[in-house]
Amino acid sequence: MCGIVGYLGNKNSKEILLGGLKELEYRGYDSAGIAVLQEGEFNSFKATGKLINLEEKTKDFVTDKFSIGIGHTRWATHGKPTELNAHPHIGDASYVVHNGIIENYAALKKDLIAEGVTFLSQTDTEVIVHQFEKNLKNTTSTFEAFKRTIDELEGAYAILLVTKGEKETIFFAKNGSPMLIGINAENEKYFASSDTPLIGHCTDVNYFEDCDYGYVTPDTFTIFNKDGKEKKPHFTKLLTNKLSAQKDGYRFFMEKEIYEQVDAIANTLLGRLDDNEVLFDELDSTLFEGINEIKLCACGTSYHSALTATYLFERHAKMKTSIEVASEFRYRNPIMHKDMLFIVISQSGETADTLETLKMAKEAGLKTLVICNVDNSSMVRLADSCILTRAGVEKGVASTKAFATQVTIFWMLSLYLAQKKKSLSPQEITKEIALLREVPASVKVSNDMHEYIKRLSKRYLHGHGFFFIGRDVFYPLALEGALKLKEISYLHAEGYPSGEMKHGPIALADPELFTIALLPQHLLYDKTKSNVEELSARDSTICAISSIDFDKADDFIAIPTCKDYMLEFFEMMVALQLLSLEISVRLGNDVDMPRNLAKSVTVE
Ligand code: G6P
Repeated sequence: MCGIVGYLGNKNSKEILLGGLKELEYRGYDSAGIAVLQEGEFNSFKATGKLINLEEKTKDFVTDKFSIGIGHTRWATHGKPTELNAHPHIGDASYVVHNGIIENYAALKKDLIAEGVTFLSQTDTEVIVHQFEKNLKNTTSTFEAFKRTIDELEGAYAILLVTKGEKETIFFAKNGSPMLIGINAENEKYFASSDTPLIGHCTDVNYFEDCDYGYVTPDTFTIFNKDGKEKKPHFTKLLTNKLSAQKDGYRFFMEKEIYEQVDAIANTLLGRLDDNEVLFDELDSTLFEGINEIKLCACGTSYHSALTATYLFERHAKMKTSIEVASEFRYRNPIMHKDMLFIVISQSGETADTLETLKMAKEAGLKTLVICNVDNSSMVRLADSCILTRAGVEKGVASTKAFATQVTIFWMLSLYLAQKKKSLSPQEITKEIALLREVPASVKVSNDMHEYIKRLSKRYLHGHGFFFIGRDVFYPLALEGALKLKEISYLHAEGYPSGEMKHGPIALADPELFTIALLPQHLLYDKTKSNVEELSARDSTICAISSIDFDKADDFIAIPTCKDYMLEFFEMMVALQLLSLEISVRLGNDVDMPRNLAKSVTVE
């Protein structure tokens, strides 16, 4: 995910900014840049790839006097990871860095272009600096121009802006994306999007609250709240442990990543939804021409997300779809026709088995598409087409936000295909798009639910096994819930189609067999309920997850009433992730690095 740093003071600002960006490397990035205003002159540098490339570009640049500077590491979401798309973005005489999403950027950009402004990048961020300079022309106060600009932005942001006319001022604004300011006895000011760049430089920090905006100079620090009222900063002592600072206050990266799903999915959707159309600008419009069948191949969690696609592609797009575990596909001399689109799914883009199937499909002359989280990974380079999931770096070995964004992509892709094949009516597409827009809200973790699951988890630390059961897309979700649990708790867990329990597994039913039952209100509720009742009648301990109360359950995790089964899917996904997390925590396991597992498996 993107990172921000800023500095105002007399020290070597280039080193401080580059050092700060280095501390944000763990968040992942594919380009970086800085802009420094010293003695009235701006110098700006950008580079794609690792920070070493930026260091190389700045090696002759000296900062030995008072200066102000801003820097950024970018993880491409809107526009490719190119130098032009890297921050800081420039206007005539100002620079901006930004984390988050400017939701109304397209409308602002259209107006600015109509007024003659030239845009250099494909990013949403660039509108900020042009909008600011437009406002500056209509007022004598730089701060007023900045404030107006902030008022005009919709979406999430952490913003730092510097402009030539104010040689000693950094303007800032925060809404939805984290940012803090640090101070020390030497009267320097440091900004960053998380604690780590500030450790060792600052003693006290103020975490900005949503809708805060203002400016700093060497002698002032002025913040306003959303009502435009000046407010007092609230300084606290800065942490000194870098690893815990990277976790932003969460106990584990996995926990942080569960909470990050709101932003991750918002990024996945960004620029890909019109009111009544799904857009994938990255796909060639002829990709599906001549295609009569889709084959999906993946491993682990990615396999589970792809399994949901088999339901969605057939339901929405009426396209014959099948799926295989990559390690199986490789050695069974599969039949591959030219009218088959071959899709591989991988968080890392490096999983050896999946990569190999992609090579096989290419050799067989099939059209190929990869759905991946890492740009420039081996699979992205190899496949004919690519859709990036934009989940940001996932550190926990147990995948969470990668899965959530993959399923989101598959839902969108099924609609994209349905548009092409006209298998859904325009009204149906519009309805689905409206639902997709609700996904970020449906993965927001509620404190009550998290607390409840924390308490509940103590009842699920033993037993002779867990069955996670569901039907339709809730079957892949059950598989994923079981995988999460076994990965980090080391308890035996299986995912099963609810209707299949009576064909064998029900023989295991007793009070020590835990059944986690996914009971969506809007999809086959009664059918699934009967299957759960069969287990309950044989005294299996049942934990039901549903929006409808279920009296046969021993435990019940309530999700809010949703409009559609796919929203229930995302609500339940979060509940399952939290349940595994809390069971693992109680068992004292290493949640982020479970035994015997690797994040990316590049061997067969
Ligand atoms: C490993 C990881 C899993 C992951 C799987 C596929 O087994 O531990 O979490 O789902 O690889 O990884 P990929 O990067 O291809 O999605």
